[in-house]
Amino acid sequence: MALRNIFVDGDPILRKICRPVEKFDEKLHILLDDMHETLDKAEGVGLAGPQVGMCRRLFIMHIDDERIEAINPEIIKTSGKQYVIEGCLSCPDKWGYVTRPQKVTLKAQDRNGQWFEKEFEELGAQCVCHENAHLDGQLFVDIVEEFVRPDEQPPKRKKAKSVKVRSIK
Ligand code: NI
Repeated sequence: MALRNIFVDGDPILRKICRPVEKFDEKLHILLDDMHETLDKAEGVGLAGPQVGMCRRLFIMHIDDERIEAINPEIIKTSGKQYVIEGCLSCPDKWGYVTRPQKVTLKAQDRNGQWFEKEFEELGAQCVCHENAHLDGQLFVDIVEEFVRPDEQPPKRKKAKSVKVRSIK
């Protein structure tokens, strides 16, 4: 395995529409393994193809000790809303509040091309939406409702009970 470089905002690859993955071969497996290692090192929650310079429809997530790989992903159902703090490995030192669905159903292929469906809630749902957006050239900074500094406490008026505040990077 090897670490991959993480591309940062300003690089045109992060703004491209990624192409579907067609070959579920050794090269794909090496890419996914490298992405896991890169995400571990960066201590992030999710990483999408274009962030490591591969304009392909795939992302990985590390949520609750689970390692998820989604190839050619589609979000087929969403429900609810959560207002949460978000960050991105491609947008260093930027954090902000975004509105994401509370629950999503993801349909994707695994590394061998097998289709699966999986439901995610809360952080998982937030992360699926964030990573999937990368595949269409969208970054969280495009939809931030209010930026915060990393050392800043969430604004008091956002601390209503109905608001869930969670950070993601
Ligand atoms: Ni990101």
